Amino acid sequence: MPGDKSVAHRAVLFNCLAEGVATVTGLPDGEDVHSTIRAMRALGCVVEESAAAGEVRIVGSAMKLSPPAETIDCGNSGTTMRLLMGVLAGSDIMASLSGDASLTRRPMERVAVVLRTLGAKIETIDGTPPVSITGCRLTAQRIETNVASAQVKSAALLAGLRAEGTTLVVEPQPTRDHTERMLAAMGVALRTSHEGIAIEGPSVPRAVDIDVCGDASSAAFFAVAATLVDGADIVVRNICANPGRIGFVQVLRRMGADMELSNQRDVAGEPVADLRVRSARLRATEIGGSEIPACIDELPVLAVAASSAEGTTIIRDAGELRVKESDRIATVATMLSRMGATIDEREDGLRIEGGALRGHCTIEAAGDHRIAMSAAVAALAAQGPVTIAGAQVAAVSFPDFYEMLESLETKDGS
Ligand code: S3P
Repeated sequence: MPGDKSVAHRAVLFNCLAEGVATVTGLPDGEDVHSTIRAMRALGCVVEESAAAGEVRIVGSAMKLSPPAETIDCGNSGTTMRLLMGVLAGSDIMASLSGDASLTRRPMERVAVVLRTLGAKIETIDGTPPVSITGCRLTAQRIETNVASAQVKSAALLAGLRAEGTTLVVEPQPTRDHTERMLAAMGVALRTSHEGIAIEGPSVPRAVDIDVCGDASSAAFFAVAATLVDGADIVVRNICANPGRIGFVQVLRRMGADMELSNQRDVAGEPVADLRVRSARLRATEIGGSEIPACIDELPVLAVAASSAEGTTIIRDAGELRVKESDRIATVATMLSRMGATIDEREDGLRIEGGALRGHCTIEAAGDHRIAMSAAVAALAAQGPVTIAGAQVAAVSFPDFYEMLESLETKDGS
């Protein structure tokens, strides 16, 4: 798999803020991580590409950033923009952040509100980008985030690096904890307890070499594909097995999938494992509550799995899907109904009746990488070919996705 996008953004960003020099390997070639690299360079950081693919050498800035010459373009990447808001809030520079058509529709007040509690000066345009930040002195506080979002939490923790004293971040539900793990590995005083996540500032992280593990979210497409295709048997090696990321394994197993995690180990504070998947018949399930943050990005492809399962699957408590790269409740419903599934949109999720999918249709990727890749997986289960319009958007996280899918063959050669 390509390098894990969530881990890669952080490996670049945190090493740029750190003191010292670090080499990051295993970076994905997806556009999102390039957005983070470009943004950090615009802020005066030194990120040198090595001859080897996926490798960069970063000379840490020890938290000193330069004012950018122009608005920073975060492309399609919400993680880049939201984490940078936290980085810039307590800096001594001014900066504006913007992005592509999808990103400029996405909510940024959820981050701004939290950072303003610490004293940050941030403006959004009716809640969306461009976002203007005037760095200022922050006061450490207890902060409650009102959405279960790792990006909001991470922005608050990064701001906490500059605030003097203890910043305590309390989330409504636990979300992926890559920021906590990596900052702790970089020597930052950070503690997670039942009260929340406490970070002591001011603090300068120590540069750390990081070999980015394979992307768990990318692996999910192959896991569902292998489950749906008769005779399939695949192993995806070296994927991020952080419990905050592999909720899809639990959900698919509950649906009857044949999946096995093995060779579990720890790489730079992140659990890593190999995942074997063999084809299986699926039954419907309910997905909701605290399980959602651990599989939020995988819900589109889990919906594809549900459309081939026996019975009716309910996805609830997933209103966050409406503010991803597309409104994924709407785009998943359109995709699967066009392929003949019976699927109802709900405010916070979907109701999907399992059955046979048909092809001979065109699916719009809607500018959303995960919709494009989910459509490709659905096509494997469908009778008849499916055309994906705008399929190249997969490059946001997985430039080689179609080639890799095409390279897989079942033992009978199909
Ligand atoms: C991410 C967190 C999630 C996820 C996104 C990556 C991260 O977003 O959907 O793809 O790297 O922190 P939210 O924090 O908005 O839930």
